[in-house]
Amino acid sequence: MTADDPPLVLKLGGSVITEKDRPETVDEPALAAAADAIADALDSGAVGRLVVVHGGGSFGHHHASEHGVSTTTGTRDPGAVSDVHGAMATLNRAVLAALHDRDVPAVPVHPLSLAARPGGTDGDLDLPLSSTATLLGEGFVPVLHGDGVATAGEGVTVVSGDELVVELAVGLGADRVGVCSTVPGVLDDDGSVIPTIDDFESVADALGASDTTDVSGGMTAKVRALLALDAPASVFGPDGLEAFLRGGTPGTRID
Ligand code: IPE
Repeated sequence: MTADDPPLVLKLGGSVITEKDRPETVDEPALAAAADAIADALDSGAVGRLVVVHGGGSFGHHHASEHGVSTTTGTRDPGAVSDVHGAMATLNRAVLAALHDRDVPAVPVHPLSLAARPGGTDGDLDLPLSSTATLLGEGFVPVLHGDGVATAGEGVTVVSGDELVVELAVGLGADRVGVCSTVPGVLDDDGSVIPTIDDFESVADALGASDTTDVSGGMTAKVRALLALDAPASVFGPDGLEAFLRGGTPGTRID
């Protein structure tokens, strides 16, 4: 591994590492399993440089919805910003602790302190990457998370972990991207995992159907964003994490 090696970008979905129905509750066994897989992959050399992003699960989403904040609707209430960010920072500390227990050199990178949507909610996300890139070069594993983000005209909105993954993958020239979610991959109409997606049209119908049950409108947007990346991406469930980190393609591969 050299300082210039392209990193792997891994998102741990919030509902993978938290108990969705209990506010601010970490799913300890699930987090431990994910941290084990990450530590093994780094120890064995299967993964060189790694950036982790985690979602909000029962931490961020709970506070965001309580205050009516989303990726498109912001708040100017500093208490609301503190609640959302504070919950995410708490979850981030739990993720860091699990990684530190396994000697993974993980360090926090908080998007609220770095990122902005200077053009408002319709504009691009600006995520300066100099701290993340420099940390990577120094051998750390930066751990970012969904967070509040300064947004022109809206105050503070939410930036999702998925948006961060895309920015990181492009900006750092990632060689692989993994999204570990609660579902075992991108599912078709029958609930079967679609093994490979290389263009949006071929799966648009199946995704349209599955998104009617997806309150965050998640999978369609995820697939579109991951298709636009140069790096190959995989969407898989917790059972696929180990295989993905070892270089395999569990779940759905998006080229
Ligand atoms: C949400 O991040 C962050 C906040 C609500 C502050 P994500 O949207 O990436 O979280 P998950 O993975 O869906 O839980």
